[in-house]
This record gives sequence, structure tokens and C-alpha cells, in this order.
Amino acid sequence: MVIDTRCAGGARSPPCAELRVLVVGGTEFISLHLVRALRRDGHEVAVLNRGRQPGRVPAGVRTLVCDRKDHAALARVLAGERVDGLVDVTYAPTTGADVDALLDALAGRVGHAIFVSTGRVYDHARPIPFDETTPRTLYWGEYARLKIEGEDVLLRRHREHGLAVTIVRPTHVFGPLNTRNNETFFFDRLVRGRPVLLPGPGGWLRQFGHVEDLADAMAAMLGHPAAAGQAYNVTGEESVTQAGFVEVIAEVIKRPLTLVPCPPGETPPPFGQNLVYDCHAVYTTTKVREELGIRPRYTLAAGIAQTFEWYLKEGLGRRELDFSREDALLRRSG
Ligand SMILES: NC(=O)c1ccc[n+]([C@@H]2O[C@H](COP(=O)([O-])OP(=O)(O)OC[C@H]3O[C@@H](n4cnc5c(N)ncnc54)[C@H](OP(=O)(O)O)[C@@H]3O)[C@@H](O)[C@H]2O)c1
Repeated sequence: MVIDTRCAGGARSPPCAELRVLVVGGTEFISLHLVRALRRDGHEVAVLNRGRQPGRVPAGVRTLVCDRKDHAALARVLAGERVDGLVDVTYAPTTGADVDALLDALAGRVGHAIFVSTGRVYDHARPIPFDETTPRTLYWGEYARLKIEGEDVLLRRHREHGLAVTIVRPTHVFGPLNTRNNETFFFDRLVRGRPVLLPGPGGWLRQFGHVEDLADAMAAMLGHPAAAGQAYNVTGEESVTQAGFVEVIAEVIKRPLTLVPCPPGETPPPFGQNLVYDCHAVYTTTKVREELGIRPRYTLAAGIAQTFEWYLKEGLGRRELDFSREDALLRRSG
């Protein structure tokens, strides 16, 4: 993520004052990249999680062990804490009451709270692209409902108590350590010379954001006065069709690609866990660029190349995978 310090209102330009930041999560994907970005920028960081992967917590980072769903435990563990920044990343699934409980446990002791929401709060039946004024609906069901609840808790605290809050709405986050089998799904097939089954014509548009860009954006927003009371789409700036995404990956990792239409009616169609659905998903990033001067550092191709390097380094291309269902579908596809 590039921070343009010339913008009106100016993003914080590193090196900035050291902040005390609490990250809810901290050991898996987005939240771990955020912890790394904050440490790189010289901030003091604590994480709050259930302590299932202590080995993942970077050196110098304090862990507060707590299940965020246990509100009494939250109040106990956060009783003595005072933070400049709080970033609520973990979806547990997190309800509005859970977000309220977290803020109550830190009442009067938080400078700026960021809530990681999702682009899936927007009504995806509307024409693309979706900007921050696109109506929020339950198009995406329970996930959207809970994220909207969480957003509203923050916005209410901003309105009623003047708490500095910011809502971040990422979409299709990719990159090293991804816990979702999206880009790795296609790496797995392409490195083995396997065809990729395509759901329908594969023409629905998607927009991907690199996890380091998301982490850098949140680190840059912390303590930024212009971000208070605002919601921002944070993602990459290229949209691409489902088929186009696979083509970009094949081109970047220099493997031949054969796309094969998936037999109709297959549930779920075997195509990158989260990429299958039938609607466009395209979002503007104008607001975060104009108001905070934040824009992504990675193009889609550069991000894929960097993620593929990580995939190879981790030896993921050699792991055992079961392709029997796909083999049967490919036989049926002729
Ligand atoms: N990936 C995407 O494309 C995407 C797109 C839009 C929005 N998002 C949002 O991004 C957020 C982060 O997702 P992520 O998958 O990268 O996960 P993450 O926050 O990096 O990893 C989950 C973390 O939460 C902790 N955790 C899980 N349940 C907990 C609980 N009940 N209490 C306390 N800590 C708990 C885990 O540690 P323990 O297991 O030790 O507790 C772990 O540290 C989510 O809010 C998601 O909705 C993701």
C-alpha cells in the first residue's frame, strides 16, 4: 500500500509516533499481517485471541488470551489496558453485542477503533461498482447481518460519544498465509498440469486485494483524524472475471491453462471456494485514495507472483490432495 503524504489532510507519514495498538486476532491471516505491519512501523502491539497458535505471535507482541464471545472474560482481561488504537479483525462469528462488549471493556481507554467489516454488506443486486454509499442489505444473509450490526455499534459510539471509529470493507483478500483456498486452489491445479473446471461462462467480475496492502492501509488509518466516523472500501484496483483471474494466475506462474466448463447443477461447483457465486463484485476505492491518500502497492499480477513465491517456499505445491471428485466431473465433461 502506498501512502501519498501529499494528499489533502495528509496520511500519517512514517515514521510516526509510537502507538499502543490492540489487535483482536493476530495469529492467522489478515490480523497477523496487520501485526507485522504495525511492528514494522515501530508500534507497541498486543493481540487478543484464544491462544490456539502461540507460536505464530511475532516477537515483542503481548498476547491477551480470551474468547471474545465470553464478555465477562473480556472485561477481566482488558481491565487494565489503555490503547491508542484497537483493530477488531476476528470474525467469531462476531455479533453487534460482541463488538459492544469489546468497546465496553475498554470504555474511555481507546483512542481510535477500527472494525474490519466486508464489501458483502452492500446490496449486490445493485449496479456495480459499489461505493461506500451503496445501501447495505442482507443480500449476503447472516454474514452481512452481523457485519452491519458491528458497523452500527461503532457508528453509534461515534455519534453519541465522539469515539473515533473507522470501518474497513475489504473484498477477496489474497496473499501469503491465506486461510481460504482461493488463489492456492488454482496454484494446486496449475502446478500439476491439471485443467480448471469453470462454473458457467466464468464471466462474473471479481476484485481482489493483497493482504499486505490491507494491513498497511489499516496501519496508516490508525490515529488519522480524517478517518474518524468513516467507512472505506479497501481492496485492489483491478476487476477481473472469474475466468480472467485464472488466466492471470496461469500467465504469472507460467503454466499452461485449460479451462473446462463444469457440468451444470454441480453443488458446490469446484472452483476456488469463494469465487463461485453468481453476481458481480466490484468496488470503488476512490474514497480511501482521495480522503486518506492510500492506494495499493500490489497490482493483481504482482500480488499473485509474490503469493506464488510463498506457496513454493512453503512446499505447498507438493502436498497430497484428493482430486477424485474433479476427475469424475472432468470425465463427464468429455
Ligand atoms: N479473507 C477475506 O477475503 C475477507 C474479506 C472481507 C472481510 N474479511 C474479514 O476479515 C477478518 C479476518 O479474517 P481472517 O480470516 O484473516 O482471520 P484472522 O483475524 O487473521 O484470524 C483469526 C484470528 O482470530 C482469533 N480468534 C478466532 N476466534 C476467536 C474468538 N472467539 N475469540 C478471540 N479470538 C478469536 C484466532 O486465534 P485463536 O484461534 O487462537 O482464537 C486468530 O488469531 C474477518 O472479520 C473477515 O470477516 C475477510
